[in-house]
Amino acid sequence: MTKRKTAAVILAAGLGTRMESALPKVMHPLAGRPMINHVLSTLESLAAERVVVVVGEDMKGVAEAVAPHTIAVQHRRLGTAHAVLAAREALRDFDGDVLVLYGDTPLIAPETLESMRDARASAAEPDVVVLGFRPGDPGQYGRLITGPEGDLERIVEAKDASRDELNVDLCNSGVMVINGARMFGWLERIGNDNAKGEYYLTDIVALARGDDCRCAVVEGNEDELLGVNSRGELAVAEALVQTRLRARAMASGVTLVDPATVYFCDDTRFGRDVLIEPHVVFGPGVALGDNVTIRAFSHIEGAKIAPGAGVGPFARLRPGAEIGEGARIGNFVEVKKSTVEEGAKVNHLAYIGDARIGAGANIGAGTITCNYDGFFKFPTDIGKGAFIGSNTALVAPVKVGDGAVVGAGSVVTKDVAADALAVTRAPRTEAEGWAARFRERKAAEKASKKKKV
Ligand code: UD1
Ligand code: CA
Repeated sequence: MTKRKTAAVILAAGLGTRMESALPKVMHPLAGRPMINHVLSTLESLAAERVVVVVGEDMKGVAEAVAPHTIAVQHRRLGTAHAVLAAREALRDFDGDVLVLYGDTPLIAPETLESMRDARASAAEPDVVVLGFRPGDPGQYGRLITGPEGDLERIVEAKDASRDELNVDLCNSGVMVINGARMFGWLERIGNDNAKGEYYLTDIVALARGDDCRCAVVEGNEDELLGVNSRGELAVAEALVQTRLRARAMASGVTLVDPATVYFCDDTRFGRDVLIEPHVVFGPGVALGDNVTIRAFSHIEGAKIAPGAGVGPFARLRPGAEIGEGARIGNFVEVKKSTVEEGAKVNHLAYIGDARIGAGANIGAGTITCNYDGFFKFPTDIGKGAFIGSNTALVAPVKVGDGAVVGAGSVVTKDVAADALAVTRAPRTEAEGWAARFRERKAAEKASKKKKV
């Protein structure tokens, strides 16, 4: 049998009670992106005909996160079978296979889904293919009860299982491929006479068997089938994703001095011969060019770093930071929504916000762009080759021309012309011998007070 068209239904209407959160469970981030988006990316390589995400009534954020995919609303959360029924309207004119996925099982690999489709297309032509796995601790997972031939006979939920059934180590991941032509017929017949009083999708297996249809199990591995129901499981999933992302980075030519201490986002992109020192955290939207070095303890998000640039140690790049070729961002420097052009240097203790730093400019230690007056933000523009002396406050909006020099300790409120020198320090005064006279007077005062006591 050839492979049929496939539609995916992702169940995401569950309350996620065990997360103890105001946020819908599938919106909790993994490697910087909501869990549900990980499932959607996995589906991309499968080229599903259509994707329907089943959400609860009060889950606006989820609809936005999954757009432009179809949303089906499950008005009451009556169980996983009831949730798949909510997708009925969205699948009305669809006659292929239905792949059911869970929004809270985000680590599944595309190859695993492909092997389920292969099983469905095999000679035995099972109408239901369930993805099973053997977790170290089967705990609350449903158990897959197989017959002598290895055929799947039924699934029993842990809460409804006998002691013998609980000893079965083959568990239900929740992922299934179902013959779409028969699926809704079976779903309608599922009841809720069980420990949770829910309509269990897992009951579809026994119903299909009752109709003399075959059901098969494909086995996957625990690392990709972990279901996230609690913050503890979320942390386990995060660790697994990070391990994968670190391996992916190294395979693409990035040196990680201590991989376990570097945290990536799902969308972090790098060139070759990038060096990342220990303890670096990447938020969403970061792209690193070839030969970039990120030194220890830096935090980087929404930033583009051109080839050969160096960042850190202890640097913070915030959204909109664009670091040019060979530019340097040093320790305790924060850059937000600013372009630091080719070869410019901001080496120590500075805040650069809403600014352009021209090519080759040098920004001294302690320089601050004062970009905010408490109500509005204003831009700072530093020309190429300019030199800003240490401890300068640039009160935006302000421009410093190409090649200009600003003396250390200046407060620059007006534009500086190209190649000019601007210094705003107060004129110096010096009183000769004043310090010595002061000390003498104060010492005498102190001595006379002590005598009186
Ligand atoms: C489910 C399976 C169990 C399996 C486990 C794997 C059933 C009855 N049980 O149990 O066999 O081992 O997953 O992780 O299917 N959902 C809805 N609407 C609902 C209820 C749930 O959309 O009314 C969604 C949830 O958002 C979640 C998924 O379905 O994404 C699974 O629901 P959950 O309550 O977590 O099921 P488990 O008890 O984990
Ligand atoms: Ca679950």
